[in-house]
Amino acid sequence: MKDKYPFELIGLPYQYSALEPYIDTETVKLHHNKHLKKYVDNLNEILADYPIYHTWSLEKLILNNSALPPTIQIGVKNNAGGIYNHNLYFHIMKPAMQQNNLTGNLKEAIIKSFDSLENFYTSFENAALKVFGSGYAWLIVDKDKELKIVTSANQDVPLNVFHVLLIDVWEHAYYLKYKNRRDEYIINWYNIIDWDKSEKNYDIAINYLNTTKIN
Ligand SMILES: [Fe+2]
Repeated sequence: MKDKYPFELIGLPYQYSALEPYIDTETVKLHHNKHLKKYVDNLNEILADYPIYHTWSLEKLILNNSALPPTIQIGVKNNAGGIYNHNLYFHIMKPAMQQNNLTGNLKEAIIKSFDSLENFYTSFENAALKVFGSGYAWLIVDKDKELKIVTSANQDVPLNVFHVLLIDVWEHAYYLKYKNRRDEYIINWYNIIDWDKSEKNYDIAINYLNTTKIN
């Protein structure tokens, strides 16, 4: 996967219709092919006149945003964040028929942190519902190896934590099918979480924290 300028629209690991009936075909298509593509195009356009940053990865552009010229900081933050967040979102979902149950290390950690899977689902739903306007709810691992639910506004990316999964609660992610019923979208979205990939993200975070000293 190419991870520097010019950035490219990464394809989905499933068909646009594959998340039916929980997310409709038209929404997935527009979300990927229009909204995400726009972030990719915008970022490339912003960086076109700054060849010095053409070797920077997406993560570097996000983490070192303050090192960029002030005139492009906000544009890069919003559009690089938009690409990062959407790529994670689209790749943390899978068709409901292929959904694998939550097992293993991540299941244990969720139950340890939230008492039960039901409590986790409720807490995650409440957090996602409370995002005012556009943003995301995330399951993250902090530097103390604790699982936490956090939210972010717009295309902000939670920094200095490890990302396990996230739900996009921008209206463009659900409005065609669910209108203003964000709660219904969130509950249905639980049917299409790719728990295998989520657990991989969790294991990578824990392995990194077990082998690296972080201040
Ligand atoms: Fe989105």
